[in-house]
Amino acid sequence: MHRRAFLKTSTLSIAGVTALGFTNTQSNNPFSSNQLTVNGKRMERRIFELAKFGVDEKGRGYRVAYTKGDIEGRAWFMELMKKAGLNPTIDTAGNIIGRRNGKNNTLKPISFGSHIDMVPDGGNYDGTLGSIAALEVMEILNENKFITEHPLELIIFANEEGGTIGSKAMTEGLTKDGLQQKSQSGLTHAEGIKALGGDPENIASCLRRKGDVHAWLELHIEQGGILEREKIQIGVVEGIVGIVHWEVLIEGFANHAGATPMNMRQDALLAASRFIIAVNEVINSVQGSQVGTVGKINVQPGAYNVIPGKVTVGLEIRDLNAEKIEMLFKEIEKRAAVIAQESKTKISFERQPNESKPALTDKKLQQLINTTAKELGFSTKLMQSGAGHDSQHMADIAPSAMIFIPSIGGISHSPKEFSTATDMENGANVLLQTILKVDKG
Ligand code: GLV
Ligand code: MN
Ligand code: MN
Repeated sequence: MHRRAFLKTSTLSIAGVTALGFTNTQSNNPFSSNQLTVNGKRMERRIFELAKFGVDEKGRGYRVAYTKGDIEGRAWFMELMKKAGLNPTIDTAGNIIGRRNGKNNTLKPISFGSHIDMVPDGGNYDGTLGSIAALEVMEILNENKFITEHPLELIIFANEEGGTIGSKAMTEGLTKDGLQQKSQSGLTHAEGIKALGGDPENIASCLRRKGDVHAWLELHIEQGGILEREKIQIGVVEGIVGIVHWEVLIEGFANHAGATPMNMRQDALLAASRFIIAVNEVINSVQGSQVGTVGKINVQPGAYNVIPGKVTVGLEIRDLNAEKIEMLFKEIEKRAAVIAQESKTKISFERQPNESKPALTDKKLQQLINTTAKELGFSTKLMQSGAGHDSQHMADIAPSAMIFIPSIGGISHSPKEFSTATDMENGANVLLQTILKVDKG
């Protein structure tokens, strides 16, 4: 049983109780809400247990959505949810949803969670922290026989890393093209969702509308290095960037690499190289925190002795301002036209489905997280998220917010991703107490 009977610093406990006026009016709950605290050791143990699912033959983390590791990891997680009495179900998009009844089940649920899929060769904290902390919140309430007013809902979104697919399906719906898009696993999203136990033919039945969810909260690692550098314990997210992807096709002419003089070539890879540099120059040409990346490339035919005839690259642009993304892309197109002309190649762009709009989090929830964290004795900072999250889609249908904890070295989407047990516990306690405050309205 975990209670904040005596906080590590007693002044905090006293200050917290009086400052909050957090006396429990819900008389049939044995402990007042601010006495509850998560079990950090259990959370840490589970982070490592989940890390065992989806390890490839080279020992790398490969719990990529729709693959065997993802499916097995989800089964493990659902088993824990069952044990916690959450009766988990899978919606038509493959999202896992568990519920804990409140005193008044006609109220809309307070929902929270994250994702457990990962990028190839990913780390053990991105998504998993928020998922395991959400389960921890449910278990602490169970163990303390604490019943909230609202029902609570734990959501593990499907395929967050492949384009926040599960949360998009739930909030705006997936198009036919979106469902047919190939995912990192090699399966289309439709095939992948089926493999998770979803029902892509009836994908729209998982749609929720504005007002269906009382509030959405997600705890996550920062994935950047600001909190660690500034020695801040809790980040309060103000906004989440929009993300747009393009497949860029550069067509030259494949020819003999020995017999074709340098001035008679239409080298697609040379043009692609200039294009990649141009992307970097355009993104850096204006002030702001926009980012642009060419993160993948395919060269054909791909031989020492053949001039590359065809190259495809993946272009991504992110910013909090959707218009800025469009403006930057137009500049990149202009630069591509010049490169194509000078290199006698053709460059064309195919905008990819399943893009993410930028989203602002709910101001009241931001404030609630901020005061809750401060009352728990933590330093805080308002910040934006350069990573995409399911929360940006949930923000379309419900007041939504995110809590960040430090990522050591600012490293993420890497096996070197790491957050300390103390920071995870701090974040989960902020999540727990924020949920309880939202519940009291
Ligand atoms: C997900 O983590 C993303 O930002 O791509
Ligand atoms: Mn994530
Ligand atoms: Mn991620």
